[in-house]
Amino acid sequence: MKNIREILKERRDEIFRLSILSEEFIAFIQANKRPVDRLMTYYRCAIMEVETKMKVLDEQFSLEYDRNPIESIKSRVKSMESLMDKMRRKNVSLSMEEIEAKIHDIAGVRVICSFPEDIYLLADCLLQQDDIRLIEKKDYISKPKANGYRSLHLIVEVPIFLQNEKRNMKVEVQFRTIAMDFWASLEHKLRYKKNLPQEMTQYLEQELYECAELSAGLDERMQRIRNLIAEEIGETVE
Ligand code: GTP
Ligand code: MG
Repeated sequence: MKNIREILKERRDEIFRLSILSEEFIAFIQANKRPVDRLMTYYRCAIMEVETKMKVLDEQFSLEYDRNPIESIKSRVKSMESLMDKMRRKNVSLSMEEIEAKIHDIAGVRVICSFPEDIYLLADCLLQQDDIRLIEKKDYISKPKANGYRSLHLIVEVPIFLQNEKRNMKVEVQFRTIAMDFWASLEHKLRYKKNLPQEMTQYLEQELYECAELSAGLDERMQRIRNLIAEEIGETVE
């Protein structure tokens, strides 16, 4: 057992270490304002490319099959604060090259679908495109996380075309159903509540897990209904 003095010392060291890192990070950002702004702009451009690709697929499905597989798209560039947190966690050193090579989710696009089958359909269509390179795929739908989290995550590389060069940028694309997204937003709130009593946290984790299972069941049933209706009206999706 550690005594209180040791615990306090560890805590003080930790706070000291973190604040030094923050200062270094802020100094780095200030000293590299132009390159940092440029890199963030490139990530915004890469987001536009991926969003357009998804919107084009949605339009084409609407034309061919009279339905829109995408419910909505939400995109974001990682904030400096969460970039700093992640660099700390992953031990990424303060250099533009390291950041670009090791942090894969500075550009994030979340594609929200009504039905689980559309997730795989859209992801496959995206990955078939000859300017998209798959870096990593995590299928938390076929293998949900222990807490119940479901989504399909892709890290892809997409080219952006600048005045005199073509640059490949990494983008994290998360595909979810409306139900998976609803669940993930609620679970995200619990994650940042640090001061709840332990029994309460345990209870909420259990509740959330059960909701994830129920909601996955609902997604499946709604998918079946949609497929039955589609069969009735003789619609098929290649
Ligand atoms: P990070 O270092 O956190 O990015 O982990 P990772 O690189 O192993 O990535 P992973 O693909 O597991 O998760 C990336 C993103 O998915 C996170 O930043 C969240 O947006 C989302 N995510 C993953 N797991 C969960 C979860 O359990 N709950 C919620 N709400 N979101 C999650
Ligand atoms: Mg990640």
